[in-house]
Amino acid sequence: MQSRLHAHIGTIRQLEILLAVHDKGSINQAAKSLFLTQPTVSIQMKKLADAIGEPIYHLSNRKLMFTDIGLELVKTAVEVLDSFARLDMRLNNMRKLKSGTLRLSVVTTSKYLIPHLLGPFCEQFPDIEVQLNIGNREQTIERLKQSVDDVYVFSHLPNDIDCHTLAFMENPLVAIAHPENPLVKRKNLTLEDIRNEPFLMREKGSGTRHAIEEFLQNQQANINIKMTIESNEAIKHCVMSKLGISILSAHTLSYGEQNGLICLPIKELPIKTNWSFVWPKNKRQTIVAQQFLEHIKASKQ
Ligand code: PGA
Repeated sequence: MQSRLHAHIGTIRQLEILLAVHDKGSINQAAKSLFLTQPTVSIQMKKLADAIGEPIYHLSNRKLMFTDIGLELVKTAVEVLDSFARLDMRLNNMRKLKSGTLRLSVVTTSKYLIPHLLGPFCEQFPDIEVQLNIGNREQTIERLKQSVDDVYVFSHLPNDIDCHTLAFMENPLVAIAHPENPLVKRKNLTLEDIRNEPFLMREKGSGTRHAIEEFLQNQQANINIKMTIESNEAIKHCVMSKLGISILSAHTLSYGEQNGLICLPIKELPIKTNWSFVWPKNKRQTIVAQQFLEHIKASKQ
């Protein structure tokens, strides 16, 4: 049959008093440390001994000595109070979680998908404030280096910063053209076929540009850059206005206006990359950020 010993122990407070007596080695000192009177401490110790049914200490040369049974009780008291300390910590964490701030810094192109991940998270934790910073890859790397935010989003990770990463979605880069571009009607297109096409390129510091340049270098291919433009949206509008072709993340085409754009089926494309959440190894994560990453991991499953 299960022991009902715990039912005889009066209160958790008695265990606290027991530990103070054990630590201080004297009823008098324990009473002082707990701001209690000496008789109060003695009475509580007696009640504990009565509950156990055995003495828990005795006096030897006016020195307080714990019995073996008393020492066992001390061990249990430590475990019980530790459990409460851990509970206290977890409750505090849960309370803080309800009302913290999530600082998120993301590269420009990911703005097409991040709001769709934030939506369900904010619905679940309505009191969490989100500070969302959007910049190109170079600007976002700079913020990461200075540890400005909790979590970052890249598709081309900086390789000189020690980071944790969590890949969460594919980010294919595709070629886009105006429907009247003669390439649209051609079959079996390769990179060589777009070599002389006016190309609309993202600005220096952009992750999209970084990926295109790395890809062209690997493929030993060239393009004819006609315009440099700082925005995916502006590039799309320039393509719609027949100013040239471009290569952009497929996510830029997923939401909103797509009229007037065709994806060119070029043999070597898409450029395959992945979106990742990134956070520096040397920075302790906030509870809110931890919770956000857990939420992302769970939504991937
Ligand atoms: P960008 O970054 O918006 O700076 O081009 C996109 C990416 O890193 O893929």
